[in-house]
Amino acid sequence: MTKRNIIIAIDGYSSCGKSTVAKALANKLHYVYVDSGAMYRTVTLYFLRNNINLEDDSKISKALEDIHIDFHKEHGITKVLLNEEDVSEEIRQMPVSENVSAVSAIKAVRKAMVKQQQKMGARKNVVMDGRDIGTAVFPDAQVKIFMTADPKVRAERRYLELKNKGENITLEEVFENIAHRDYQDTTRKESPLIRAEDAIILDNTNMTEEEQLAFVSDKVSVIAEKQ
Ligand code: DC
Repeated sequence: MTKRNIIIAIDGYSSCGKSTVAKALANKLHYVYVDSGAMYRTVTLYFLRNNINLEDDSKISKALEDIHIDFHKEHGITKVLLNEEDVSEEIRQMPVSENVSAVSAIKAVRKAMVKQQQKMGARKNVVMDGRDIGTAVFPDAQVKIFMTADPKVRAERRYLELKNKGENITLEEVFENIAHRDYQDTTRKESPLIRAEDAIILDNTNMTEEEQLAFVSDKVSVIAEKQ
């Protein structure tokens, strides 16, 4: 029997540190890391730049054909490319954060992204983080983690991150954005954020990054032993 490649799905709420854990785990295991949220953010950036009306289905399908997203790893840092342009910084800024939940609720957008994500996980061992990885993209993933943390703690962490990047923003604005995205992501019709029944919960409100990595590494090794 040929061995199936391993998929580690990390889902959870906005700004709870999914990508930090996912990246560290992928580095440790030498797996490919895929940030699925970055893909929705890149589509959102393209829609904003090109004034795509979110009600206009034909404009949306045409735009989706014109959008090519790639991840390019250079000196240990993964860059997100939109039609070969490095948009890694721009997709983290507030205009994108404020619109990404609406864009990611569109069925055609999800269909296109899920197809690409499944392709990325078809041949390689991957760690992928997002909202629907363990439920819709890879329901058969061998390891599923569902991350959560106190919303106030999440807002404070994100606020410091954005301030350090020089963004002019208040803690209240960040908190509001996170609360709004949680609401939209959990209540949308298409693949809402929900814990897969077989996902292990990781609440990192009071955990260091090292503790989180140890927690997920431990779960992975238990499951890998059974393979
Ligand atoms: O992980 P993130 O905060 O960068 O994701 C940005 C948005 O993309 C998030 O608000 C919801 C959406 N998203 C999604 O709908 N499905 C995914 N698998 C990943 C992200």
